[in-house]
Amino acid sequence: MNDIARKQDQGLVVLRTISDLRAWRERLRAAGKTLAMVPTMGALHDGHLELVRQGFEKADAVLASIFVNPTQFAPHEDLDAYPRTWDADLEKLTALGTQAIFYPSVSEMYPDGFVTNVSVGGVSGPLEGAHRPGHFDGVATVVSKLLLMALPDAALFGEKDWQQLQVIKRMTADLNIPVEICGVPIVRDENGLALSSRNAYLSAEQYKIACALNKTLFAMAEKIRAGQDHETVQRWGVNEIEQAGFDKIDYLEIRDAASLSMPCDKALRILVAAKLGKARLIDNVAV
Ligand code: PAJ
Repeated sequence: MNDIARKQDQGLVVLRTISDLRAWRERLRAAGKTLAMVPTMGALHDGHLELVRQGFEKADAVLASIFVNPTQFAPHEDLDAYPRTWDADLEKLTALGTQAIFYPSVSEMYPDGFVTNVSVGGVSGPLEGAHRPGHFDGVATVVSKLLLMALPDAALFGEKDWQQLQVIKRMTADLNIPVEICGVPIVRDENGLALSSRNAYLSAEQYKIACALNKTLFAMAEKIRAGQDHETVQRWGVNEIEQAGFDKIDYLEIRDAASLSMPCDKALRILVAAKLGKARLIDNVAV
């Protein structure tokens, strides 16, 4: 049995309360084991599962959390329609050998009287922050709660949500939460479309349009590397995505990769959010 198989061969525990989570974590610590945490909202696909797989590279045990966090959805967003697939999620996590799932109720996470908000300045402001006011406060609040409940050695987040990853890195540094935040590259399907629970909203026709998103981003990165100026490349990209048939582009920007502010001479990232029918798709690539 190799190392990873040995780590995985210990059964899966479903934890519904914070006190059960803390007791489980204490037992793990007493046994001298390290922990990697993978926060999710469920409806798991191979992108999420890649975080779990990489969690096993980082620590002795992996804890996944499944919680559709109401505070990160605006009133008009898809909280009620958000896919919930508990049985399939459980099966997938069990197959990977995940040791525990934290699956709390909304009242366990936000009991009556809850009024505290974690708000990260700077990096939360532009792009997603500008189009989804309050979204990153909801994310930062729930993620800080989850990290403080489980106190994992490492926590894994996907580069799919690039800005979210930067917000979480900033927040854990600023609040001195003792955890290593690990970013995991985007998992894409055979046509390059970034896997997302929201891809389920796409019709076959819309799926073809959606694939233009990643192709445009990769082509833009190529043009910038070839020395074309940012403004021309940005305009070209907007035109490509509009021509492909997207309903609306929320943003398509070339930004500093870490601060998400306007580009300087450091590493760059191209980020996009665009609407297609009921789906709002996001993607990003490195330059
Ligand atoms: P969710 O959308 O369920 O995503 C959970 C994690 O999976 C995030 O870190 C996300 O970036 C990662 N992920 C999703 N699709 C991916 C893909 N195709 N490739 C790589 N990683 C991918 O993001 C959230 O939930 C929430 O905001 C959360 C952090 C759980 C807080 O509520």
